[in-house]
Amino acid sequence: MLKDKNILIGITGGIAAYKICNLIRLYKKAGANVSVVVTPNALNFVTKLTLQSLSQNEVYSDCFEIDEYKPEHIALTEADIFVIAPASANTISKLANGICDNLLLSTACAYQKQILIVPAMNTGMWNNKFIQENLVKLKNSGYSILSPSEGFLACGTNGVGRMREPEEIFEETERILNSTKKLAGKKILITAGGTKEKIDPVRFITNASSGKMGLALAQQAQNMGADVTLVSTFKAHGFNNIVTETAFEMEKVVKENLKENDCIIMTAAVADYRVRNYSEQKIKKDDSDSMTLELVKNPDILKEISEEKERPMVVGFCAESENLLENAKSKIRKKGCDYIIANDISRCDIGFNTDENEVYIINKNLQTKHLDKASKQEIAKKILEEIFE
Ligand code: CTP
Repeated sequence: MLKDKNILIGITGGIAAYKICNLIRLYKKAGANVSVVVTPNALNFVTKLTLQSLSQNEVYSDCFEIDEYKPEHIALTEADIFVIAPASANTISKLANGICDNLLLSTACAYQKQILIVPAMNTGMWNNKFIQENLVKLKNSGYSILSPSEGFLACGTNGVGRMREPEEIFEETERILNSTKKLAGKKILITAGGTKEKIDPVRFITNASSGKMGLALAQQAQNMGADVTLVSTFKAHGFNNIVTETAFEMEKVVKENLKENDCIIMTAAVADYRVRNYSEQKIKKDDSDSMTLELVKNPDILKEISEEKERPMVVGFCAESENLLENAKSKIRKKGCDYIIANDISRCDIGFNTDENEVYIINKNLQTKHLDKASKQEIAKKILEEIFE
């Protein structure tokens, strides 16, 4: 599975760095090409010569060592996977905040494929609120985290913080690289965010959708090898991104791109109505105690594309505050899409504007699969695995 894969290992300053020698051997034995980038502190724990001899490759540590014509951090980003192990609390926090003050961090910042983070640290550091917040931030941005195990630590105590064994890191690398091929060759268009329907130049009608679920789907689909177009109501980086504001604009983009995609996922919360008469000038308040806005129906994008004769697979989302399954099943019939993903927006721990979700995947035959509460990234991955099975 790892034969001829290009694996980039990033080593930071931690005692577990010595175990990476064994990890390099495992990758090499499996036929992979291994490159190593280290932070300056990593070299206090393991020597460049050891890493060079085991990887049979140059070991990079300096941002300003320019070989041939490519800056190193860009040349290194061509690897198939970037495994940062051990990942120190310092590096984790810098990664989560876009800090690039060494070659490893600059490389990670520029890297666009899967990054696997394998933390190792003292229990107190692991439990530190800021470290945990930074790990959540990384997880929500699509990084894979192989959490530390519990056991004897180099500082002489027992607790959580031990880096996972090289064999486990090896298996996780295989698992990630395996999933990166699952959607190779597929083109997927995903909509995300809540549309904005203008009232006048300063006011609009919108909804509570944050776009996080759509963003997680786009991230995971890309990680699984798909060619993704994200049509969103906000600017998103790292994707082929088309920004739209209103339901009308979104409808136009989705329809224009319908036939060239293998799948359309309508995660966006599209406003059902827009204001009948948009005011070119800011509406002034008058003496009356009330005002009436007349609304007219927007196109139902999901329904319209599902009715097309020649169309790709179409997946809808359904946000319900009551009778979740009943409403979701009637919605899939009404809209005519292939799958509907139902989430309960009456709960404040999942759904709109949260980092977690719990959903039901319903197919055309009304067969239902429940996905337990998990991060939106994990839910996204499971949804993609299920619909493309
Ligand atoms: N949708 C759409 N166009 C609309 C409204 C919704 O394409 N004008 C899509 C959404 O992107 C989502 C699905 O339809 O995939 C269901 O959205 P939801 O808001 O749950 O349902 P509605 O059709 O708006 O029905 P209701 O508001 O009555 O529940």
